[in-house]
Amino acid sequence: MKILDFGSLNYDYVYGVEHVVVPGETISSRDMEIFCGGKGLNQAIAAARAGAEVHMAGMVGEDGQLFMDICKENGIDVSYLKQVPGKSGHAIIQLDKNGQNSILLYGGSNRKITKEYVDEVLTGFSKGDLLLLQNEINMLDYIIDKAYEKGMRILLNPSPYDEKLAACDLSKISVFLINEIEGEQITKEKEPEKMLDVLEEKYPGAGIMLTLGSKGSVYANKGKRYRQDIFKVKAVDTTAAGDTFTGYFAASVLKGMPMEEILRKCAKASAIAVSKKGASDSIPKEEEVDGYELL
Ligand code: RIB
Repeated sequence: MKILDFGSLNYDYVYGVEHVVVPGETISSRDMEIFCGGKGLNQAIAAARAGAEVHMAGMVGEDGQLFMDICKENGIDVSYLKQVPGKSGHAIIQLDKNGQNSILLYGGSNRKITKEYVDEVLTGFSKGDLLLLQNEINMLDYIIDKAYEKGMRILLNPSPYDEKLAACDLSKISVFLINEIEGEQITKEKEPEKMLDVLEEKYPGAGIMLTLGSKGSVYANKGKRYRQDIFKVKAVDTTAAGDTFTGYFAASVLKGMPMEEILRKCAKASAIAVSKKGASDSIPKEEEVDGYELL
């Protein structure tokens, strides 16, 4: 069994700032670096570094060769990744002195997915394979319907959460991976336990993986709740910490690991990612995660 990550690939322009710019304000940045990112790519790299067989699908622009290279370097299959005319997606990221970020997205080629392309990609996958999705590409509703018809298990990280998700039949999702902000947007509840109650009632049968920043994470499924604290580190850059958690989660589910172990591994992997700069650059390999407590 394998993972298909159908998602976004972005060039991340990361600006170091004292504070995130507010409306009407002009500020100077300390420095600027360019990284390969995008929630799709970050999660694919995390799943591959966690030891899973990963296939990446998505669209890159004429400037997208670097994405192909970075996927290959990480052992990710790129035979479904397509290069199209125009620019790749990018993100403008302001990173403040506490390692917190704010992100502005430009979709570019990530929003050029067609039905024909989706059909072509899905021919390579079947029942039991795992589909990993985020919300930075178009055609999400069609991808979900077609993958569900094939019997694929669908993991959705509905991030960034927006109105386009209303077009998707979310009853077809096997596991939702959300953070506390998305949890509040979806359920209108502020308390994590209440968010989980609402989501479990709305999507019975689906697993709900809720991450709570410094308060750790909770997984809810079929009336059971599993909790995990964070591993404390000095935050250098929180970009892709959630993607690291999600990619590690997908790979661990594919391996059939017990949920307590999955959560512990994901918490360690994302702690390491937070302690390093960059998106995909900050994602640890499995050996580093497994040896983490020895540090
Ligand atoms: O989750 C972090 C990612 O969000 C960044 O790499 C950026 O590209 C945006 O997609």
